[in-house]
Order: sequence, then C-alpha cells, then structure tokens
Amino acid sequence: MSRFLFPRWSNLLLPTLLMVGAVVPLYAVLFVAYGFSPKTLEVGYQPNQPIPFSHELHAGQLGMDCRYCHNTVERSGFAAVPPTQTCMNCHTGIRPSSPKLEALRESATTGNPVTWIKVHKLGDYAYFDHSAHVNRGVGCVTCHGRIDRMEVVYRYAPLSMGWCLDCHRDPINNLRPPSEMTNMTFDMQSLSREERESLKSQFLIKPSEDCSTCHR
Ligand code: HEC
Ligand code: HEC
Ligand code: HEC
Ligand code: HEC
Ligand code: HEC
Repeated sequence: MSRFLFPRWSNLLLPTLLMVGAVVPLYAVLFVAYGFSPKTLEVGYQPNQPIPFSHELHAGQLGMDCRYCHNTVERSGFAAVPPTQTCMNCHTGIRPSSPKLEALRESATTGNPVTWIKVHKLGDYAYFDHSAHVNRGVGCVTCHGRIDRMEVVYRYAPLSMGWCLDCHRDPINNLRPPSEMTNMTFDMQSLSREERESLKSQFLIKPSEDCSTCHR
C-alpha cells in the first residue's frame, strides 16, 4: 500500500525543509504534494473491524446522533471513538449474547479496549482539528460522506493537501449553520448565496493557507 512507500521519508522531510529554509526544493515537493499525493490513492480504504459495527444501523435506521459516540468532536481536534461502556449502555440489554458482540463482551470483562482499526490517518507531520471545522459550519458529511448509509466505514475523501487547500481557498459552498453539523441529509442547495455569505461573515471565516496552520 502506498502508505508504506511514503511516510518514512516524508515525516523527516518536512521539518528538515522548514529548518533549512530550502525554497526551491519546497516548490518541487509542493508540486508532488498537489499532483501525486499518495493519499489520493486511498479513497475507498475500508478495513475489516473486530466487531461488525454498522453505522447504517445505528446512525441511519436508529437515528443516533454522531455526537452520542464521537463526543469530543465539538470540543477537540480529535474525534474520539467511543469506549466499550458507550456500547454497553444499550448492549447489556439489547442482544446481550449475540455472537457479533463477542469482542465487545470480552472488552467489557477484561477492561481492554476494542482494537478498532483506523480508517483515516494523516501523516504525523500534518495537523487537523475537528472542532475548528464543525463549529464553523463544515458538516461531517462534507468530509466523510453518507456515513449513515455505511455498513462498514470507508474513506470518502482523499485528505490530501490539495483537497484541504481547495476548500480553504474558497469555503463558501461548504458552509451550513453549525447546528446542522451532524445532519447527513441537510440540503446545501437550500441556502442562498446571501445566506452563505452571512454565515461566513457571522463566524469571521477565513481559513488559513499558511504552512504552519497544518504543519506545526
Ligand atoms: C442506543 C442504543 C445502542 C447503542 C449505544 C449501541 N447499539 Fe448496537 N444495536 C442497538 C440496536 C437497537 C441493535 C439492533 C438489535 C436487533 O436487531 O434486534 C443493535 C445492533 C448491534 C449489532 C448487531 C447485533 C446482531 O446480533 O445482529 C452490533 C454488532 C452492535 N449493535 C454493535 C454496537 C457497538 C460496537 C456499539 C458501540 C460502539 C453499539 N452497538 C452501541 C442499539 C445500540
Ligand atoms: C453507536 C456509536 C456510534 C455512532 C452513533 C456513530 N459512530 Fe462513527 N464510529 C463508531 C465506532 C465504534 C467506530 C470505529 C469502528 C468503525 O470504523 O466502524 C466509528 C468510526 C467512525 C469513523 C471512522 C474513524 C476512523 O477510524 O478514521 C468516522 C469518520 C465516523 N465514525 C463518523 C461518524 C459520523 C459522521 C456519525 C454520525 C452520522 C457517526 N460516526 C455515528 C461509533 C459510532
Ligand atoms: C473538514 C473535514 C472534516 C470534517 C468536517 C469532519 N471530519 Fe472527521 N476526520 C477528518 C480528517 C482529515 C480525519 C483524520 C484526522 C487525522 O488523522 O489527524 C478525520 C478523522 C475522524 C475520526 C477518527 C478519529 C480522529 O479524529 O482522527 C472520526 C471518528 C471522525 N473523523 C468523525 C467525524 C465526525 C463525527 C464529524 C462531524 C461531527 C467529522 N468527523 C467531521 C476530516 C473531517
Ligand atoms: C470543506 C472545507 C474544508 C476542508 C475540506 C478542510 N478545511 Fe480546514 N477549515 C475550514 C474552515 C471553514 C475553517 C475555519 C476557518 C476560520 O475559522 O476562519 C478551517 C480551519 C482549519 C484549521 C484551524 C485553523 C486555525 O486557525 O486554528 C486547521 C488546522 C485546518 N482547517 C486544517 C485542515 C486540514 C489539515 C484539512 C485537510 C485534511 C482541512 N482543514 C480541510 C474548511 C475546510
Ligand atoms: C490546510 C492544511 C495545509 C496547509 C495550509 C499546508 N499543508 Fe502541506 N499537507 C497537508 C496535508 C493534509 C498533507 C498530507 C498529509 C498526509 O498525506 O497524510 C500535506 C502534505 C505536505 C507535504 C508532504 C508531501 C506529501 O505528498 O505527502 C509537504 C512537504 C507539505 N505538505 C508542505 C507544505 C508547505 C510548504 C505548505 C505551505 C506553503 C503547506 N504544506 C501547507 C495540509 C496542509
């Protein structure tokens, strides 16, 4: 997988370049980052999870809000995956002996967390912050797609630098009222140009394109 071809050198490359202040190589690398970022190849990445947890069932059919489980998403950079106890709130009573929940019961008994496999992971040299986006009116669905229809989560967007910057340069078509951040079916077309402009000015939205915003 492309991941293994790149990060080892790119983790070291960025700090080195920034320290040396090497302007010309920087442009060369930027060109690479835009055109050939290896992450763009990973759209659709869909690892098998230790428990067949379905967003389609829980977030879709049962209508649970994303924040019931990913409860740090508004407050912190990281969107925490829920601890076993969050699941046990229901599953001590619902399907308590389902074979599909065996790894969950084992986690509850031993106290060892479930070993969920990460679907999204930027290189350590890149910094992302959830709260900065969702509280400014960029909805989950814009970056993660229709999670409420996914039996198994897959990577919807490239998460490459070019993808981030496309929106940072001109975010207006991706803005919604922050109260709709987890709404998977909010109709973006229902907002007029004026309403988007007013969201932008109300929240003083001016996403940064400085390297240090995402590489620190
Ligand atoms: C608000 C209650 C609630 C919470 C919280 C919850 N679930 Fe569920 N879960 C359900 C319901 C309801 C079903 C459907 C049961 C049925 O089909 O009879 C279900 C079904 C499942 C199934 C399928 C079981 C089977 O035998 O088909 C799995 C697996 C599952 N949940 C895993 C999880 C995990 C993992 C978590 C925590 C991340 C979790 N659930 C949190 C309510 C919940
Ligand atoms: C009942 C708890 C629960 C609810 C509700 C829930 N999730 Fe999740 N979510 C999980 C669990 C557990 C995982 C880790 C397993 C997996 O990837 O399926 C996860 C994984 C994810 C991931 C992938 C994380 C990674 O590894 O990169 C994304 C993105 C995500 N959820 C978004 C959402 C969105 C958006 C919603 C609301 C529409 C939502 N989730 C609702 C429990 C939940
Ligand atoms: C602007 C794009 C964007 C939006 C909006 C967004 N995410 Fe993410 N999400 C990402 C990126 C990028 C990552 C990978 C972050 C990393 O590896 O540092 C990620 C990772 C995650 C993860 C894995 C844990 C983590 O933080 O690395 C979960 C869970 C998740 N997102 C859930 C959500 C939920 C729920 C919402 C809406 C409330 C949401 N995301 C909104 C881009 C976004
Ligand atoms: C769909 C639009 C969109 C995408 C995609 C997006 N962003 Fe943003 N980003 C925004 C908006 C809007 C803000 C809020 C700007 C403000 O408050 O002025 C923001 C803010 C941020 C901030 C906080 C800046 C600060 O001053 O604290 C960081 C860090 C950031 N983005 C990183 C990223 C990274 C890394 C990616 C790609 C993995 C990304 N963003 C993708 C729209 C987006
Ligand atoms: C809005 C966020 C954002 C800004 C601003 C930004 N980058 Fe990036 N950059 C990223 C992301 C995301 C990646 C890819 C991370 C990954 O692949 O996991 C990346 C990757 C890179 C890489 C590695 C090449 C590659 O293809 O993986 C270099 C070098 C780099 N950026 C340099 C810069 C420089 C120099 C600037 C300033 C001109 C800059 N970046 C501005 C988000 C940003």
